[in-house]
Amino acid sequence: MFEKIEMAPPDAILGLTDAFKKESNPNKINLGVGIYKDEKGGTPTLESVKRAEKRLLEASAPKTYLPIPGAPEFGAAVRELVFSREHPVSAQNRACTAHTPGGTGALRVAADFLKRCTGARSVWMSDPTWANHPAIFEAAGHPIKTYPYYDSQTKGIDFAAMRSALANADKGDVVLLHACCHNPSGVDLTLDQWRDLAVIIKDLDLMPVVDFAYQGFGEGLEEDAAGVRLLCESVNEALVCSSFSKNFGLYQDRCGALTLVAGTAENAACAFSQVEKAIRANYSNPPAHGGQIVTTIMGDPELHSLWESEVTAMRNRINGMRVLFVDTLKEIGVAQDFSFIKRQRGMFSFSGLTRDQVSELRSKHAIYIVGSGRINVAGMTPENIRPLCLAIADVLQPGKA
Ligand code: LMR
Repeated sequence: MFEKIEMAPPDAILGLTDAFKKESNPNKINLGVGIYKDEKGGTPTLESVKRAEKRLLEASAPKTYLPIPGAPEFGAAVRELVFSREHPVSAQNRACTAHTPGGTGALRVAADFLKRCTGARSVWMSDPTWANHPAIFEAAGHPIKTYPYYDSQTKGIDFAAMRSALANADKGDVVLLHACCHNPSGVDLTLDQWRDLAVIIKDLDLMPVVDFAYQGFGEGLEEDAAGVRLLCESVNEALVCSSFSKNFGLYQDRCGALTLVAGTAENAACAFSQVEKAIRANYSNPPAHGGQIVTTIMGDPELHSLWESEVTAMRNRINGMRVLFVDTLKEIGVAQDFSFIKRQRGMFSFSGLTRDQVSELRSKHAIYIVGSGRINVAGMTPENIRPLCLAIADVLQPGKA
């Protein structure tokens, strides 16, 4: 049977990392996968994480199975991050959280749960969205639909078009939203737009699923949660998929969470029992280590404030690179206006580079960018910014750089 199977194409994002590793050019630059790099181009483990790991090692707790949704303390820590203790969802105990293998795991469990236990059919996604979103929901059997989002002319959101597309959604359809740091565009909804969307979602009886993979990388830990908090003040039911890959730097520990919000504590507990069924059939129970790190940091005021300062430092460095990138392009005489990159937030921006230019950057300059033109700003460093900008100038205006 296997002889008849065709080779799958490489993954649009992770496949790029494999290709980058094989690249022999010593000056190669990777702006593909969303991994944070420091000034020196490395991704060292956060100091708060190292200290938490030291404590965990010393405590040497037994490695027995976790409960299906993970440790309750982890769930409480996640809800505090996503909603704060004061938010009505927390105060009224209307949410339950499962520790999942990464944000991807959270999305897949959400997709399975929605398919099996609700009438939800189509899943509406922004155009563009993270390359893996359609695959995850399709794998669970949902038809995919798209709503307009990024406007390549204004480099902002075409909110009017987004609204009118969603007006065609059927009752019970799922709307996938990015809480902050929209991947791939870096353009986020304003609070007024979240407010408007909440009305549409409520009026049309849609199910919001919020992908929250970059909390802290946009404007701040609290600020980045403002949209999802506002939404969940208006709608009774939602699913929030968190990732701690970026803000805790726990990429390979696969640590994420799925938070189910319902109208009452009883409804939440009942629906969540079905989320547990989806988990049991998928991976049984979560890998403990990443969750223990998050719980340890969140539960200790000193580690918590150290972690917050580390998140702030990562965010500030990315925003500094946004400015340096735009200024350097200008300084070396690139005529095209890239100033929008300064206004965007998170790890990514849509550079506007065409597929041909992206492939030329790779073949001629060993610069790796996702085919859509998405660039990982967090991969820029003071050292690689000039060669990067010169290479971009070369593909944009050949012969001039
Ligand atoms: C990305 O978008 O680069 C990250 O979320 C990593 C991934 O899994 O694609």
